[in-house]
Amino acid sequence: MRVLRDIKSIYNFIYYIIIKEHLQSLMLDSISKKLFWTLPDDSLNIFKELFEIFAVKSVLEIGTSIGNSSSKFAKWVGDDGLVVTVESHDERFEMARKRFADEGVEERLIQIKGHAPEVFDGDHVKEILINGQSVEIGRQVFKPEMFDFVFLDATKMEYLKYLEKVLPLTKNGGLIVADNCTTHSQALNEFIEKTMNHPDLNSYLLEIDNGLLLSFIKR
Ligand SMILES: C[S@@+](CC[C@H](N)C(=O)[O-])C[C@H]1O[C@@H](n2cnc3c(N)ncnc32)[C@H](O)[C@@H]1O
Repeated sequence: MRVLRDIKSIYNFIYYIIIKEHLQSLMLDSISKKLFWTLPDDSLNIFKELFEIFAVKSVLEIGTSIGNSSSKFAKWVGDDGLVVTVESHDERFEMARKRFADEGVEERLIQIKGHAPEVFDGDHVKEILINGQSVEIGRQVFKPEMFDFVFLDATKMEYLKYLEKVLPLTKNGGLIVADNCTTHSQALNEFIEKTMNHPDLNSYLLEIDNGLLLSFIKR
C-alpha cells in the first residue's frame, strides 16, 4: 500500500486519475515537459492506410497543436505532397514550426496561424509560414477542390462551421475525417447528424480511439 502524505503527491495522484483514461491521446513534449493532445496510435495507423489506399498528396488539418499528426502526414504524402495546417495558439504554432524543421518536413508544409473558420476567408490570417518562411499576410492559399484529405481536430463546437468551409476545398472522391466523434458525441451531435445525412457525403463512424467520422465526397 502506498500512503500519500504531502499535498504534492495527493495532487499528482488526483491528476493521474483524471488523465489516466486519456493517456493514449496525450503526448509529452520532451523540451517543455508539458502534455499535449494528439491522435492515438491506432487512429494514426488507420490514417496511414488511408493515405496509401487513396494516394493522398494534399492535406488540410484544422488543429496543428505541436505538429505530431501533421509531421506524420507530411512524411506520408511524399516529396511532391503538401500539408496545410491551421493553429490559433501562438506557443503551439511555434513548437510545431520547430518540430517540422527538426524532422526535415517543413518543405512540404504550409503553417497558418489563425482561427478557423475565419482563416479561410483570407483577411483574418495572422501569419503564414511556407517552408518555414513568413509570407505576406492575407495571401490566398486556398483553391477550390485542392485537398485529397481534410482532418478536423480543433474546437468541437465549431466542426459544422469548419465543414461548411472545407467542403468546397476538398476534391470529389476526397475524404474529410473528424476526430472525437465518440468521446465528444454530445457536443458533436448536430455535426454528426448533418454529416451523416449530407447529400454530398458518404459517412462512416469508426469506433476506435476517440471515434473517427470518415466522410467521402460524392458530388
Ligand atoms: C487536439 S489538438 C490537435 C492535435 C493534433 N492534430 C495532433 O493530432 O497532434 C487541437 C488544437 O486545435 C487548436 N484549435 C482549437 N480551436 C481552433 C480554431 N478555431 N482554429 C485554429 N486552431 C484551433 C488548439 O489550439 C489545439 O492546439
